[in-house]
Amino acid sequence: MNIHTIILAGGKGTRMLSQKAKVLQKLAGKTMLQHLLIKANKVSDKISVVVGFNKDDVEKEISRLSLKAQTFLQKKQIGTADAVKTVINEITDTEKVLILYGDVPLIKTSTLDSLCANEGDITILTTLLKNPTGYGRVIKGSNSYVTGIVEEKDATDSQKGINEIFTGILVASGKALKELIPLIDNKNAAKEYYLTDLISIASEKGFKINALDSPNNETKGANNRFEQEELERVLRNMNADDLLNAGATLVDKTRVDIRGNVKVGADCTIDVNVIFEGNIELGDNVEIGANTVICDTKINNDTKILPFSHIVSSNIGKDCLIGPYARLREGSTIENGAKIGNFVETKKTTIGKSSKANHFSYLGDAEIGDSVNIGAGTITCNYDGKDKHKTKIGEGSFVGTNSSLVAPINIGKNAYVGAGSTITKDIPDNALGVGRSKQINKENWSKEKK
Ligand code: UD1
Ligand code: CA
Repeated sequence: MNIHTIILAGGKGTRMLSQKAKVLQKLAGKTMLQHLLIKANKVSDKISVVVGFNKDDVEKEISRLSLKAQTFLQKKQIGTADAVKTVINEITDTEKVLILYGDVPLIKTSTLDSLCANEGDITILTTLLKNPTGYGRVIKGSNSYVTGIVEEKDATDSQKGINEIFTGILVASGKALKELIPLIDNKNAAKEYYLTDLISIASEKGFKINALDSPNNETKGANNRFEQEELERVLRNMNADDLLNAGATLVDKTRVDIRGNVKVGADCTIDVNVIFEGNIELGDNVEIGANTVICDTKINNDTKILPFSHIVSSNIGKDCLIGPYARLREGSTIENGAKIGNFVETKKTTIGKSSKANHFSYLGDAEIGDSVNIGAGTITCNYDGKDKHKTKIGEGSFVGTNSSLVAPINIGKNAYVGAGSTITKDIPDNALGVGRSKQINKENWSKEKK
């Protein structure tokens, strides 16, 4: 049976005290909507998103993600049943409709798959919470079928004591939904059209409603900043578990943040306070030092990243040593065996095999060959105020300390640059380039001064 997923994303999220729609709040660097759309895309044939508050930004986010989803406008946010009603004409009798709440983003696809595999007209996903305050409580009949969901505001004291709550996620046949949604009214404490009233109406009509229990870390909602922070922690823990399951050593799994997708080879070690963003690939035996941020980067076997390094959109070879305090910006390619030391910044630059830039440097728009030594304080002057220019340094060359290489410039193979030079002319292979004023010594200068 085809699965049609409806994501309810119309609400403001008043308790977030934000100007943004709640589904645009982020967890691990991705909006809650993004988390849900990625999963919905895996489990369903068709996705509908109900938008309302701040709809333009929500629609922008959907197009940014370029995942197939159609949006439906709910003009006023008068309840979750009304939100589903905006999609009602798109629902066919023969499909299964999976409803997701935009602020319950950590649900795993495996849980959604087992929910969708349930036979029957309606199955709701539930969980047990020690403190169920704020959630809809699940009421069951003597035969263990669900007979209703009572919202916090409408619950009696004894109903408030029920620990089984509705997670906001349910699956229903298109036919049942189309029949039942129009019957829901707003006669309740909040004067809202509750989707949860569908259950008692269905039960009275003789539908059998199943409850599927789920792990409560996946199904908590984010209604305020405390809950958002809690979900961030839950997600961090889930992602760290994935890395441990993949064979990585984490010095402290509560202190590694994975805000993207990380692939690890064998025997990688990740120290504390490391943040991974985007797509990261680590080869075998890679070590990541403490307090390091790595974004969209591939790091090959046996390379060590020492503490406090910041690495973005780069490609690092085997057996390299990077940091401490290295900054590799977008388009840095560090070839096998190269070393980048403290306070070295690279951008759109290739550092050849076994080359070294060990201290204080800016290397931008440069092609540096193999076995080159870049002295401390070397700067590629790549920008003339208008355009960027290239620096090329041939293999085996040696750049003395405190040199400014004014681009565009070519330094040949096995060439030398004298320390303290400002190099404005190309240096041929095997030559020494020196570009500095000559030293003068004034004899007895200090004595005469006195
Ligand atoms: C809802 C459920 C509650 C459940 C909890 C699970 C109802 C009436 N209550 O409560 O039983 O335990 O979720 O987290 O459904 N939305 C719209 N349009 C609206 C109202 C809401 O699109 O008019 C969207 C919101 O953007 C949000 C979702 O629906 O993504 C849930 O709304 P919210 O107000 O957070 O419901 P809860 O009070 O948490
Ligand atoms: Ca909610």
